Amino acid sequence: MALGETLITESEIRGRVGTLAREVGAALPPGDLHCAVVLKSALFFAVDLLRALGREASLGFVSASSYGGGTESAGEVRLGLEAVGRVAGRHLLLIDDILDTGHTLAAARGALQALRPASLRTCVLLDKPSRRRVSIEADHVGFTIADVFVVGYGLDCAEAYRTLPDIRACRPGAPSAPDAKERPGCWNG
Ligand code: IMP
Ligand code: MG
Repeated sequence: MALGETLITESEIRGRVGTLAREVGAALPPGDLHCAVVLKSALFFAVDLLRALGREASLGFVSASSYGGGTESAGEVRLGLEAVGRVAGRHLLLIDDILDTGHTLAAARGALQALRPASLRTCVLLDKPSRRRVSIEADHVGFTIADVFVVGYGLDCAEAYRTLPDIRACRPGAPSAPDAKERPGCWNG
């Protein structure tokens, strides 16, 4: 995969994460809040969102894999709940990077609902509604984007490009596992 154009800049991300945090904060019920972050791609987003949320919350993690090394969802999601923390009876905010076919968020939401939270809201940074195969919407969405494979700000392609500050398109073509000298100008320094 080769890096393509910048779709969302670092400053656009920062601005939208701030307004999104206010939206999420206004929608969350008062009381005991627990946040479950889907690893690994939602990590950068979750940290920024939770800092901007400015509210006491505990943190847990869900692992999910459906992509392997490619860019198409296998449709079968493997979930790991070992690090999800205590959910029962608490307000739960489930945070993921991107809602694509919907398999991952549907599986994670179902598994967490089974743990009987007091309430459950979902928040994703990106939504690609044209790719949906499972009928699911997130309660909160940062940006709606077209059917383009994207990387950066935590999102990867076969583990590459996560640390890019912007969100960029990634298109088929060499290189497949880039090293720093093949991607000059992508990093802030
Ligand atoms: P879904 O199960 O098809 O909705 O896919 C959700 C997961 O696939 C996300 O949590 C991402 O980790 C990954 N994914 C989907 N689209 C992209 C993309 O454009 N770039 C990077 N990862 C993606
Ligand atoms: Mg993900």
